[in-house]
Amino acid sequence: MLKFRDKDQALAKIKDLAMLSDIFPTGFHGAYTAGVGPGSTVYIAGAGPVGLASAAASQLLGAAVVIVGDLIPERLEQARSFGCETVDVSMEASVADQIDQILGVPEVDSAVDCVGFEARGSGAEASQEVPAQVLNSMMQVVRAGGDIGIPGLYVTEDPGAVNEAAKLGNLSIRIGLGWAKSCRFITGQCPVMSYNRALMQAILFDKVQIAKAVNVTMIGLDEAPQGYKDFDKGAAKKFVIDPHRSVH
Ligand SMILES: NC(=O)c1ccc[n+]([C@@H]2O[C@H](COP(=O)([O-])OP(=O)(O)OC[C@H]3O[C@@H](n4cnc5c(N)ncnc54)[C@H](O)[C@@H]3O)[C@@H](O)[C@H]2O)c1
Repeated sequence: MLKFRDKDQALAKIKDLAMLSDIFPTGFHGAYTAGVGPGSTVYIAGAGPVGLASAAASQLLGAAVVIVGDLIPERLEQARSFGCETVDVSMEASVADQIDQILGVPEVDSAVDCVGFEARGSGAEASQEVPAQVLNSMMQVVRAGGDIGIPGLYVTEDPGAVNEAAKLGNLSIRIGLGWAKSCRFITGQCPVMSYNRALMQAILFDKVQIAKAVNVTMIGLDEAPQGYKDFDKGAAKKFVIDPHRSVH
């Protein structure tokens, strides 16, 4: 638990502060462990709440260009709304080619996987689940010696997976490419407590607008079932359930 010094100040920013419980530290962890810093270029796969939080965190860390990839147009639009460049992974042009069009080079300093094992393929394969898609694309687009942050979830068992190997969490990863480029991979559950006090300060002192970036949308408990359905369909919103309707 985090103690807020001033109740009125905290309530004025409660939509932002609510993001400290998970997605803001998680997105920040992805960017931080991928080595994002002043002047970095970064590719973030996934424009869900974690990807958008990672994009806002990259801006906070001083990135020169933040590029977010997804295949849902509304989520890409949400990323553009706070100054990110975007890549549509459903297009024929590869992620690297689209990055080239933005930066003039087909690679970035840092890459963050905010998708995980439920990744879709790219281009013609965009409607299929291709669990290793993002990990392989990260290794392709990060520069030699670049770091890859992986907050996206990978599992040890996935009974509904596309093939027998993936059912046990075995993915077809092109690890030779990662070796050849001396990439570093950082993954696992986010150590939320390592970051949330500093991120609280960044929110309270107006250094980041995280609720706006992830499009926090407050709903009552009765709207929760619909909220889950909409989120499952890829709504460009981070629903926050406010059971007592105490926030306006
Ligand atoms: N490490 C941690 O502690 C931690 C904490 C919270 C969430 N997570 C994980 O982070 C991931 C993201 O969470 P979320 O809530 O934003 O999920 P989400 O499902 O809302 O977002 C994932 C996005 O990735 C997009 N996507 C699918 N395939 C893609 C591809 N090939 N390239 C680019 N984008 C692609 C989807 O369209 C979707 O918008 C999940 O795997 C979640 O379990 C990890």
